[in-house]
Amino acid sequence: MSDYDVIIIGSGPGGYVAAIRAAQNGLKTACVESRETLGGTCLNIGCIPSKALLHASELYEEVSGGHLKKFGITASASIDHAGLMASKDKSVKGLTDGIAFLFKKNKVDWLKGHASFESKNSIKVGDETHTAKNIVIATGSSVTPLPGAEIDNAKGVIVDSTGALSLAKVPGHLVVIGGGVIGLELGSVWRRLGAKVTVVEYLDQILPGMDGEIRKDSAKLLSKQGMEIRTGTKVTGVKTGKSGATLTLEPAAGGAAETLEADVVLVSIGRRPNTDGLALEKAGLALNPRGQIEVDHYLATNVPGIWAIGDVTPGPMLAHKAEDEGVAVADNIAGRTGYVNHDVIPSVVYTMPEIAGVGLTEEAAKEKGEIKVGRFPFLANSRAKTNQDTDGWVKIIADARTDRVLGVWILNRLAGTLIAEAALAMEMGASSEDIALTCHAHPTHAESLKEAAMAVTGKPIHI
Ligand code: FAD
Ligand code: NAI
Repeated sequence: MSDYDVIIIGSGPGGYVAAIRAAQNGLKTACVESRETLGGTCLNIGCIPSKALLHASELYEEVSGGHLKKFGITASASIDHAGLMASKDKSVKGLTDGIAFLFKKNKVDWLKGHASFESKNSIKVGDETHTAKNIVIATGSSVTPLPGAEIDNAKGVIVDSTGALSLAKVPGHLVVIGGGVIGLELGSVWRRLGAKVTVVEYLDQILPGMDGEIRKDSAKLLSKQGMEIRTGTKVTGVKTGKSGATLTLEPAAGGAAETLEADVVLVSIGRRPNTDGLALEKAGLALNPRGQIEVDHYLATNVPGIWAIGDVTPGPMLAHKAEDEGVAVADNIAGRTGYVNHDVIPSVVYTMPEIAGVGLTEEAAKEKGEIKVGRFPFLANSRAKTNQDTDGWVKIIADARTDRVLGVWILNRLAGTLIAEAALAMEMGASSEDIALTCHAHPTHAESLKEAAMAVTGKPIHI
């Protein structure tokens, strides 16, 4: 007889959600976690601490950058570095403790330690072996290293995102390698707090995978804020000295090399799945060429009884994708129907303004067929104008024949919140006309979605 109906390896947003839902479904459930606290990358060293610093640094810049003056308010601000870090740590602790509470409440056993397979239905954690009818792999991902740039978070010169969340002081010059989500978010934090920030990106534009127009316009806005963005540039070497580091840069297309001095270098060139030390071969599992565990529509691997979710599987490495897969896998294991619509997974970059999208980019939609596009600038939105915060726009991409919404892109202070409406509309199969005919409260930023939908047929009211 098995010890458990389900064992989940990893307690990130994928694993902890799967564990809670499995227990809710009446299954005897355990979750293995090798970290001291539950919640995985997201709660401990990812989404939550980064958003804590983004929020605090944004408040600081509102005051120190003189932004309040335009509202007739004068104030001054200074940074208490220890207080800033303590406030971030408090948010993390509150949420990770919360998962421990939810495990107790739902009677999920937390097996503390590193799990490795012994067979397809048993794992080893420390000296103990545990068996289960079903095993879910939710081991997440870690930083992709850059050869020649050895990360040492304790030293604090060449750091990854974890190091960049806990720098001992505001660096004079922070050089970010990789103009993706982590580089732009954490680059924004330290720039707002006073660092000079240079982002070195190999490709000719930042934020690969996002809509072309949003990539271009967000780069313009971030540059205007003082972030230096060097696209089409590769880092060919990083040497650390007594203090700081010297980077060697070359144009990606070839050309003369140059050097760049940095106090701190953040390596943020992507993340890779965590499968080391799992002994997957003992369970009969193999990895795909990208090192991921392949799953089918039900999140099942090719070995019956073994499932996989979250960052360790193909698809965007996002907490909400992992969470939805956690619910779906636990429902499938319980004999219900679990389903994730991978075509409608929003993504948000929490810079200022925020950058958000769901569905197809304009480029991808065009490749699939004829489209209609409606755009609306926040410059014409009454609430954004009143708040003197008019950067950005909404773009709605619809099928030219059926009017079904294929993608929505938003650049705005509230883009991360506004994109939820677009995701719901797309999940319900809405047309742009459905959005245009939905009453939106006035005065709100959300009215820009309605106006962009009206613009799909060429009849927006306010432009
Ligand atoms: P993880 O959260 O990585 O959790 C996996 C857990 O498994 C880890 O705790 C690990 O210790 C444990 N584990 C691994 N192997 C074993 C083993 N063999 N035995 C026992 N335990 C094991 N996403 C967003 O959607 N929004 C954001 O704002 C956001 N911000 C981010 C900011 C940063 C700086 C970073 C690094 C990431 C961010 N992400 C964000 C991405 C998000 O954190 C991941 O997509 C998400 O955590 C993936 O969840 P997961 O459950 O698949 O894995
Ligand atoms: P990323 O994939 O978003 O960006 C990496 C960038 O580095 C790319 O633009 C790439 O072209 C560039 N690059 C790669 N090699 C390079 C090199 N040698 N020199 C210069 N540039 C190079 O990866 P990132 O930022 O590390 O984030 C990892 C994951 O974490 C993302 O996939 C994202 O899904 C997740 N994340 C999500 C957040 C959110 O949802 N707000 C926040 C932070 C992370």
